[in-house]
Amino acid sequence: MIIAIDGPAASGKGTLGKRLAAHYHFRHLDTGVIYRAVAKAVLDRGGDLHDEASAVAAAMELDPEKFGDPVLKTQVIGDGASVVSAFPRVRAALVSFQRQFAAEPPGAVLDGRDIGTVICPDADVKIFVVADPAVRARRRTLEARARGEAADEAAVLADILKRDERDRNRAAAPLKAAADAYLLDNSQLDIEGGVRAAIDIVEAVRAGRLRD
Ligand code: DC
Repeated sequence: MIIAIDGPAASGKGTLGKRLAAHYHFRHLDTGVIYRAVAKAVLDRGGDLHDEASAVAAAMELDPEKFGDPVLKTQVIGDGASVVSAFPRVRAALVSFQRQFAAEPPGAVLDGRDIGTVICPDADVKIFVVADPAVRARRRTLEARARGEAADEAAVLADILKRDERDRNRAAAPLKAAADAYLLDNSQLDIEGGVRAAIDIVEAVRAGRLRD
């Protein structure tokens, strides 16, 4: 079984993905980390994030061993990921890694921007997570502060809005809900509430209570 979770920055899709995977004993891939790792590799080499050739080279040499690096979580790298991920050739270089991950038993949860639309269009369940920008900015700010980073909520909100705009309006695999995705509005839900709502969607699909 493949569960695809898409949504904008800081909508809570990563936490939901992790929790759903644990619940069903599936593997989990936060695909944002892949683009973040590409951005970091470009910067580490002193390259320019806006240079497609540098970003493609970094994508082709992707090292999943480095996905756990805490630096990948920072706002600078997230912003860089939003830039490199707009290059079609960068995206193309990363498709097979994601599809292979999704295909391995017993099942997988992938979260990102284009999982339900491009990477796994035949996913068994697709969930599109949304939340108010102000709520997302609050959560991101608290997370950053918990990591010891100085985060200004207004700046975080501006970054989120800029990233949404770039991710939604790029030509290659823009952020959008698949036609057959279920919308989950996370604005008023805490983590447990969001997880319950997501499990309810998966169970309803499995029981055939929702359309395929
Ligand atoms: O989910 P995130 O904040 O870690 O993602 C970082 C950036 O990576 C995001 O702004 C756009 C890009 N991304 C993407 O283009 N496609 C994905 N499947 C996941 C992330």
